[in-house]
Amino acid sequence: MKKILLMISCFTLVMASCGNDTSKNTEENATKTTESAAPSTLETDLPGEKLIAKSDCIGCHNKTTKVIGPAYVDVAAKYTLNDKNIDYLADKIISGGKGVWGEIAMTPHPTIAPDDAKEMAKYILSLKK
Ligand code: HEC
Repeated sequence: MKKILLMISCFTLVMASCGNDTSKNTEENATKTTESAAPSTLETDLPGEKLIAKSDCIGCHNKTTKVIGPAYVDVAAKYTLNDKNIDYLADKIISGGKGVWGEIAMTPHPTIAPDDAKEMAKYILSLKK
């Protein structure tokens, strides 16, 4: 009788751990899929991406997390991608300023050409989540 009980409990244990493994695998797979899907939608081949990489923006901005300035995806969520907003943001990149996202000011970038600033703005606004 004891043996049978032992066998049953062993069997239950095996079943339980098996069940756990499967659910763990599905969870892992699910996270992997979302992880690999997310960056691909945020990849672009726009010239603005390289211009931003060459400038000092990275010190205050990150694509997906707020650092000192807002995350680019948050900026993209706030403004529609159109000429008016590209002009506004290009101007802001060059002139700097505060008050839209908080009391910390963005430093002005007077050496950035207006066309380059527009490319940067276009790139940022293309980063829709
Ligand atoms: C010294 C830190 C700093 C640097 C360097 C910086 N930013 Fe910013 N940026 C900020 C802050 C702070 C804000 C929020 C300003 C506000 O609240 O109006 C901001 C806001 C912005 C916005 C949104 C503007 C708005 O009115 O909504 C854009 C777009 C932007 N930055 C792009 C850039 C780009 C492109 C560069 C590089 C050329 C850059 N930033 C460099 C700190 C910085």
